[in-house]
Parts: sequence; structure tokens; C-alpha cells
Amino acid sequence: MSDIRNIVILTGAGISAESGVATFRGPDGLWEGHRVEDVATPEGFARDPALVQRFYDARRARLHEVQPNAAHAALARLDSEWKGDLLIVTQNVDDLHERAGAKRLLHMHGELKSAWCRACDARLPWEDDLGSGPACPDCGVDGKLRPDIVWFGEMPYEMERIDRALMEADLFVSIGTSGAVYPAAGYVQTARYCGARTLEMNLEPSQGSIFFHETRLGRAGELVPDWVEEVLEAN
Ligand code: APR
Repeated sequence: MSDIRNIVILTGAGISAESGVATFRGPDGLWEGHRVEDVATPEGFARDPALVQRFYDARRARLHEVQPNAAHAALARLDSEWKGDLLIVTQNVDDLHERAGAKRLLHMHGELKSAWCRACDARLPWEDDLGSGPACPDCGVDGKLRPDIVWFGEMPYEMERIDRALMEADLFVSIGTSGAVYPAAGYVQTARYCGARTLEMNLEPSQGSIFFHETRLGRAGELVPDWVEEVLEAN
């Protein structure tokens, strides 16, 4: 582990679970009582915009009640102390990585605290509800703001930057993700094919577990701080 320079870390809902944020794929197949197709697709939004806005408004409001956990804090420590290249790619739309202090971070599936205006295409920092149909601060048009979240069938953000980082990575680490959703689920294969060592930390083996050189099973809040300590000590 001592000749590592470039690290890419992929995080998913499991890293925020110990903070009290619900993961996506519960045992009942529902996401907080809703079918994913109803609340996380452009078609679901077209069918029932009020339901979808309410759903994300509730999630955005809930961010004030949750705090980063030990796993977010450990990655923020790695970010500040790691001299080589590092990119944390999160699938999460919460803001717990940045609140813990991570800087080299990218939200590939968008952010709860961002709104996207379908009239003028602006993306704006957003704290409040969208369900009331507020006017876009940029163009002034009412009722055209939607959550700036990448839904199924939409293109994740910053794909080229992620691909470049994966191709240059010496170490790829996946934390708290089921490996059920592409393109993120395929990052382990890209990184490994291009020469990276690959490590997964998750509560249970992910769907792509066989592609990793090493799997550590357990809670992110325990595994990630230990791993960060290990990596900083060895390098
Ligand atoms: N520590 C580590 N892993 C955990 C913990 C924990 N405390 N709690 C749960 N997990 C694991 C679960 O075992 C599961 O494998 O985290 C994973 C979460 O998987 P998902 O709920 O499928 O979340 P994620 O992989 O982030 O989903 C990917 O799907 O719905 C879309 O866009 C949405 O970004 C999301 C994407």
C-alpha cells in the first residue's frame, strides 16, 4: 500500500446510514415508502410533480437534523492530509461529506441543496422548499424549479472527470453502495482494468463484490476511520 499516489473513493447511501439518512434499497424494495420509479424518474415527476417536490422538500429539510458521522470525518481527514491526488465521488445527494470538511468532492447524482430551473437552465444553491413553486432568482419564471437531482434515465454529472480519475487511480475504494446502479457500479471494473488496486467497505457484499481485490464487511463508521489511519501511516 506504500506506493499509492492517486486515490478515487466512491461513496453511496451506506456511508450516511449511521447519520440517520435512509438508504435507497430497503428490504421492502421501497425508498422511504415510495416506489423509486415514482420519486426518482423524470416520468414520475411529470405524472405527479407535487408528490416529487414534497418528497425532496422533506429530505432537504431533514438535512438540518442529521450530522456527519465518523466515516465522513475520516474521509475529510484523508482529504486534508493526503498529499497525492484524491477524488471523492459521491452518489449521495446529502451534504454530509462537505459538512465534515471534504473538499475534493463531486456529487455525481446532484444535490438536495441545489435547484435546477427548467426555464433558464440555471443551477442554484437552494435551502428552502420547492413545492410552493417559487420564482427562479435568475430568470424570474415561477414554478419551473425542480430538485437538481439526477434521476433514473438522466445523465450523471462530471462523467469525463470521473473517468479520467479512474484511469489514473492507483487505489479505488467503494464505501456503502449496493453496486446496483450504473455507471457508478462499473467504476470498480474501469479502475481495476486500468491498474488500480480495489477495496470495498460495505455492510454486506455488494452486487459487484467479485470485482474487488479486497472486501471489508462492517459499518462504515468503524471501517473507514481504521482504513484512513492505515493509508496515512503507510504513505
Ligand atoms: N456501513 C456500510 N454500509 C452500509 C451501512 C453502514 N452503516 N448501512 C447500509 N450499508 C450498505 C447496504 O448494505 C447497501 O449495500 O449500503 C448500501 C446502500 O445501497 P443503496 O441503498 O442501494 O444505495 P446506493 O448504492 O448509494 O444507491 C445508488 O441508487 O436510487 C439511486 O440515485 C440513487 O445514488 C443512489 C443510487
